[in-house]
Formats: sequence, structure tokens, C-alpha cells
Amino acid sequence: MNKLFIIPVLALTIGMTSCGGNSEKKEDNSTTDAASSTEVPVETAEKVEGIENVTLANDWTVESNDQMQFNTTLIRVKAGEPVTLTLKNVGSQPKEAMGHNLVVLKPGVDIATFGGEAVAAVDNEYIPKSSLTSIVAHTKLLGPAEEDKITFTLEKGVYPFLCSFPGHFGIMQGKIVAE
Ligand code: CU
Repeated sequence: MNKLFIIPVLALTIGMTSCGGNSEKKEDNSTTDAASSTEVPVETAEKVEGIENVTLANDWTVESNDQMQFNTTLIRVKAGEPVTLTLKNVGSQPKEAMGHNLVVLKPGVDIATFGGEAVAAVDNEYIPKSSLTSIVAHTKLLGPAEEDKITFTLEKGVYPFLCSFPGHFGIMQGKIVAE
């Protein structure tokens, strides 16, 4: 169901980028235009610091703990092929106090804005219904020793992820680079 939203939003993002709406990306566009490349400009993996040291794989397990941390914050996957991501909560504190999830956002979605909206969504495991179109995929909210596996496929790009439990996203966030 969520996949239905991916294409229009990506198209919109790329459209805005081409117009030079985002000054950060402007330089890349000029390069692409000058080379008359047929490639669609994307936020490239090279811009993500440290990504070159991350193994390219489409099967990942991320752990969350009682110290409010993910053990992995940089993930590198092959675009266009299914990604399997398992979140394991290795903590022992109760879900109500130290629950964790992993929410993959679409490229360009602001983690702080999303995290702020998520706080109010206590009845929906901190997945804000008003922002469903910002989400690529998400796990369940996990209590101690629980785990959840999700599968999704990404176009090339850089996808922010976070734990949307209130107060966690400042530390519990990372990036998935699809290349
Ligand atoms: Cu958390």
C-alpha cells in the first residue's frame, strides 16, 4: 500500500531538484546538464560521510537498546531489489518507557519535523497518520526482546530513518543509501 505513494513523491522531488529549488543540489544539476547525461540526478551516496566503509547488502539487522541507540546508523543497499530489514530490541525496559521502532522516510523528509508529529500518535504506535505519505516502511513498536522484520524496495537515493518513540529521534536516527 505504501508503495503507491513512492513514485509521485519521488517524481515531485526530482522535479523540484531540476528547477534548482534546493541550492544544495544545484551544483550537481549543472554538472549533469553540462554532460547531457541521461541519468536522472539523485542525491548521491558520495555525499553521505562514511558510506564508502559500509558493506553493500540487502539483508540487514539493526539492534535497539535501553541506552536509546541503534547499533547501526548507516545502511547501504542495492536499489531496485527488495531490502529485508529486521529490528531487534535487545533492551529490557518496558515498551511504555523505552519502546523502539524503525521508520524509513522518503528522501528529503525532515526527521525532526516527522518526529515532532509522531509524538502525538500514541494511539498508533507513534506512526502519525497525517504523515503516512512521508513513510517508505516501518516496523512495529517493539518492547524488550521483541523483533520485527520489514521488506521494501528503494529507488536510488538517500533515505533517513528514525525511531519515532517520543524523544528518541535526536539520537536514534540514520540513513539508508540505495545505489
Ligand atoms: Cu527508540
